[in-house]
Amino acid sequence: MNIYIETYGCQMNVADSELVASILKKEHFSIVEDINIADVIIFNTCSVRQHAEDRVLGRINNEMSRKRSKKDLKIGVIGCMAQRLDKQLNEMNSSIDFVVGVDQYNHLPAIINGLYNENDFECNTIVNDAEIYKDIYPIHSGKFNAFVTIMRGCNNFCTYCIVPYTRGRERSRPIDDIISEITEIGKKGFKDVSLLGQNVNSYHYKNVNFAELLKKVNKIETIKRIRFITSHPKDLSDDVIKVMAESDKVCEHLHLAMQSGDDEILARMNRGYTSQHFYDITQKLRKAMPDISITTDIIAGFPGETEEQFQRTYDLMKKIQFDYAFTFKYSPRTGTKAAEFKDQIPETIRLERLKKLIELQQDITTQKYKEQIGKIKEIYVEQISKKSEYEMAGKSRDFKITVFPGDSTLIGKFVKVKITDAVGWTLKGELIK
Ligand code: SAH
Ligand code: SF4
Ligand code: F3S
Repeated sequence: MNIYIETYGCQMNVADSELVASILKKEHFSIVEDINIADVIIFNTCSVRQHAEDRVLGRINNEMSRKRSKKDLKIGVIGCMAQRLDKQLNEMNSSIDFVVGVDQYNHLPAIINGLYNENDFECNTIVNDAEIYKDIYPIHSGKFNAFVTIMRGCNNFCTYCIVPYTRGRERSRPIDDIISEITEIGKKGFKDVSLLGQNVNSYHYKNVNFAELLKKVNKIETIKRIRFITSHPKDLSDDVIKVMAESDKVCEHLHLAMQSGDDEILARMNRGYTSQHFYDITQKLRKAMPDISITTDIIAGFPGETEEQFQRTYDLMKKIQFDYAFTFKYSPRTGTKAAEFKDQIPETIRLERLKKLIELQQDITTQKYKEQIGKIKEIYVEQISKKSEYEMAGKSRDFKITVFPGDSTLIGKFVKVKITDAVGWTLKGELIK
């Protein structure tokens, strides 16, 4: 039976789709990349903002018509939206045949088989705050970078965020499982690994904390680059900064969500830090690793945000100069605290503020790329450039796409490139022999 998986949302979902592929393959299902030959279409969904849900519901509507020509086709929804909306999904769209929550993927083979035997609709979204999918090695889809889940769930309950409700409580994977998974990945030829969790800095298994974990991964011979997402500013310790700076494989690249530059808003978001604390961390990071690229997430128009408070966010972004910022307009999520706040900001103002942040960041990012000209960077070569067959493309340690003249024998290798130009948000350079 052919299964097609379409993934939305964060890297955690990408990793979960790889996990689901592995679970299904073990039970003799085939994972296919062509939706036209699928017997089962699975949507792995995201609930973080209303837009994310609307998008996938639209996609499901589009694919419904396939059932007319293929009577046996089954459509399933998994992931955060499955967890959040549960059986309601079938009421919203009756062509959805199954809904499976984030802790129940081990049951997917039986659920799918059940649909072909007796059942019309299957739903299993039972929360299991202990599930870590032990002994399942995901099928990594890329060739160069592999995502490795080190923890699941989140305990932070930022007041705007649905994730703690869809993903359940925080739990860390046993350190030995993580190390053996990464060792296996290394044997398969992956040299770049990203450690995943909603809040990796609070990783804790027996006496191993996140700093210790990084040191252990740094010792795995075949792995050459290590990244991790996501860090929480309240938990990013001096120890971790020190280990980042001292470990040759940990890349100079960190995503650290600021969310707001105003202390009152940060408190109402339940973020657990002040704008000063956030600023201080960025300075510590840059002192320890002068070439570090810092990216962030910002929310515009959180309930109660005044013009002055928004301005503080704008000013702090300007002061910090992030390499990139993912900016979002606040989206109320039913069940979260902030959705109940009485002082919601009108959509037009949220959009207006968002636009200002985007424009500011565009200039900063462009400038950040220009600053790279003249530098010599290590590039992990991934592919032939999309624009020219005589050019190769890859990523620098600070996660910037870099293109340079070369041939395909370089793919999979690390090379040194001197940056000569920045065209938009791509670096151009010359190979250094
Ligand atoms: N665990 C990660 C973030 C996961 S969600 C972390 O804490 O860094 C990714 C981003 O989506 C968040 O950082 C936040 O900026 C944004 N986000 C989450 N909920 C949102 C909401 N209700 N409206 C708008 N943006 C939201
Ligand atoms: Fe959401 Fe906050 Fe947890 Fe991140 S840390 S997933 S923003 S609750
Ligand atoms: Fe979305 Fe769930 Fe990730 S809500 S952002 S897919 S954890």
